[in-house]
This record gives sequence, structure tokens and C-alpha cells, in this order.
Amino acid sequence: MAAIVKPGDVVPGFEAFDQLATMVAIVRPDGRCLLANSALENVIGLSRRALQRSNAFEWLADAAPLGEHARRVAANLVATSRFDAHLRRHAQHGQGELPVHVILSQIDLGGPGGAGGPGGTRGDAVLLEMIEIEQQTRQDREERVQELVTAHKELVRNLAHEIRNPLGGIRGAAQLLELEIEGRELKEYTRVIVHEADRLQALVDRLLAPHRRAPVVGDVNIHEVCERVRALVLAEFPRGLTVRRDYDISIPEFRGDREQLIQAVLNIVHNAAQALVGRIAAGDARIELRTRVARQVTVGRQRFRLALELHIQDNGPGVPDTVRDRIFQPLVSGREGGSGLGLTLAQTFVQQHQGIIECESAPGRTVFKIVIPLP
Ligand SMILES: Nc1ncnc2c1ncn2[C@@H]1O[C@H](COP(=O)(O)OP(=O)(O)O)[C@@H](O)[C@H]1O
Ligand SMILES: [Mg+2]
Repeated sequence: MAAIVKPGDVVPGFEAFDQLATMVAIVRPDGRCLLANSALENVIGLSRRALQRSNAFEWLADAAPLGEHARRVAANLVATSRFDAHLRRHAQHGQGELPVHVILSQIDLGGPGGAGGPGGTRGDAVLLEMIEIEQQTRQDREERVQELVTAHKELVRNLAHEIRNPLGGIRGAAQLLELEIEGRELKEYTRVIVHEADRLQALVDRLLAPHRRAPVVGDVNIHEVCERVRALVLAEFPRGLTVRRDYDISIPEFRGDREQLIQAVLNIVHNAAQALVGRIAAGDARIELRTRVARQVTVGRQRFRLALELHIQDNGPGVPDTVRDRIFQPLVSGREGGSGLGLTLAQTFVQQHQGIIECESAPGRTVFKIVIPLP
């Protein structure tokens, strides 16, 4: 088939490339473009026709490395080759160059005789993939966060179990002791033991809570979740706090655990309200709940065609620098009396919906973004 593909022709069987978020092209070793997918078209800012009439060497700020790598791949000196480069974008997409990671691989376009046959010869085309470097780092970071959260969860769960078992014994022994001893002063000591054991028990219960109850799956409407949370938080802070809503009501229902999601959103909104105490007193505290549909979303390693995004934004002082990188870890708290479990639990619940929570924070504008894939 390679022999009959001319630049600009649609190459049959490669339509799926248009579903990819990474930029993909098939080029000749001399740079002539046989095919460009829609991601590439969008990022460069040229129509597909124009792209397919152009030469890949013109796409990059420095063409020399591409030429050299393409030649080596086409000559089968290496099967794949990677390098970093700068992609030239056209004016309407914002001036300038976009840092990309380039991957070149051999591709066999097939043909009547198969590889090496008269139609397609190995070496007459290479597959060119480009990933925005920023996107790549974001994905790596998300993956690391998820791995860390999983590791922490495991640690906390084991620890909680270890603490819980002897706790019952300590409490029971203190109660027996209380029956045996005389005098109010001494009894006060046993009461302290019982009280502190109960406090520890409550903490352990909260640590184990996400693992306790099996998820109850049903149809969830994200706006019902938001409205419940809004009502709860306004009941707690009836004055000085405005909770704005900006909903995209076209978001479809999805399968999930409604109570878990209410808890997750509530924990985030609650944190926002707590960070806003100063403004609540002044009467200009604002939280906004904003929903949107997002397309072609990557969460961790998985890709989803559609997802919902719920942004929870507040105009508080921002997440303290000291805890910013660790807020999703258990027992990390930036405030007096905090347990540091709220966001860990929220992240666990959202992950159970194949989603993720991310945070962007600056003084006056903190946004927690919940992403949940839609069917
Ligand atoms: N909207 C917010 N504004 C400022 N800081 C926040 C916000 N949300 C969370 N934080 C910070 O993240 C920390 C961790 O939150 P969380 O896991 O809920 O634990 P806790 O609320 O018990 O401290 C909080 O203590 C706070 O310092
Ligand atoms: Mg909290």
C-alpha cells in the first residue's frame, strides 16, 4: 500500500489515530508527510490538507535531529528513537514553540506483498509521535500521587488494625481496675485511660472507615451531590458565606456510590469553609461549585473519552506551603486540631470511581478539581 499512498491521501485503516490525544504522523525518511492526525492538526494550527502537503522538517524549530533520527530508524539501525524538540505553532494558537517529546518508530504500511514486497518496504516510512512535555510530566506526577496514596492507605490500614486490637484490652482492663480501687482520685486515672482509649478508637475507626463498607452502586446525578453538600455547609455557616453554583446540566448520570461522593465533596467544601473563617467573619467568603464535561481525559494510565469535572473553588488564603505537596496523605494537616484524614478519604472515594482529585492553590483562589470518567 505504501507504493500507492501519495502525500495527502487518507491512509485507510489509520482513522483510529484521530482518537489519540498524542500527535501522530506517518512520514517518509525525507520528511514528506503521508498522514497527520487531528491532535497534530489542532496543536500546530494548520489544516490537515496543509499539514499533509508540508514537510515534517518544517514542523520543528530545529530540523536536524529529526532528519538524523528518522534516517537511523528507517535504515533499521534502531527500532525506535526518542528525543526532545520544539514544535512550531501557528499564530492563531498562540505564538511560539511547544516543547515536545518525539518518538520515532518503524512502521510497515503493508502492501500487496507485505513487508519487503513490491508494495511496502520496511524503511520507506516512519511513525512520528509527539507528546507535550508538560502533559507528560503531569501524567508522571499523577501516577506518582496515585502510587503514594495507595501505599499510604495500605500502611495506615495495617497500623490501624495493630492499634485497634490491644485497645479493647486496655479499655477493659481499666474498667476492671476501676471496680477494684477505692478513692475518687484513683478512679479519675482509670477514667482518663478509658476516655483516651475511646478517643483512639474513634480515630482508628475513621482511619478504617473507607475500607469498612462495601460501595453501594447506583445512578448518581452529580448535581444532586452538589446540592446536598451545599445545603449541609450552608446549614453550618448560615452567615457570611456564599456558595455559588455553575452547573452544566447536560452531564449525564453515571454509576457510582452517591454517599461516598457526597462525603468526598463535603470534605473538600468543609476544608474550604474552614480556610475561609476570616472572610466569613468579614461577610465576603465565597465557594463556587462548577461542573463541566471534559473530553479525552487521562487519569493515571487510563484514558477516557468523557469525564465530568467538578471544580470547588474558594477565595480563601490558599493551602499553606508547608503541607501543599502532601495534603492528600493521611494525617497531614495544616490547621490546629485537624486530623489530616479528610482529603485522604475524599481521594480514596473518588479513586473508587476511577477518578482523581487535583489541587491548584494561590492566595485568594484555591481550586480542588474532581475528575470522574463518564460512560
Ligand atoms: N480550601 C483550602 N484552603 C486552604 N487550605 C486547605 C484547603 N483545603 C485543604 N487545605 C489544607 O489541607 C489540609 C488537609 O486537609 P484534610 O485532609 O481535610 O485534613 P484536616 O482538615 O483534618 O486538616 C488542611 O489542614 C489545610 O491545611
Ligand atoms: Mg478536613
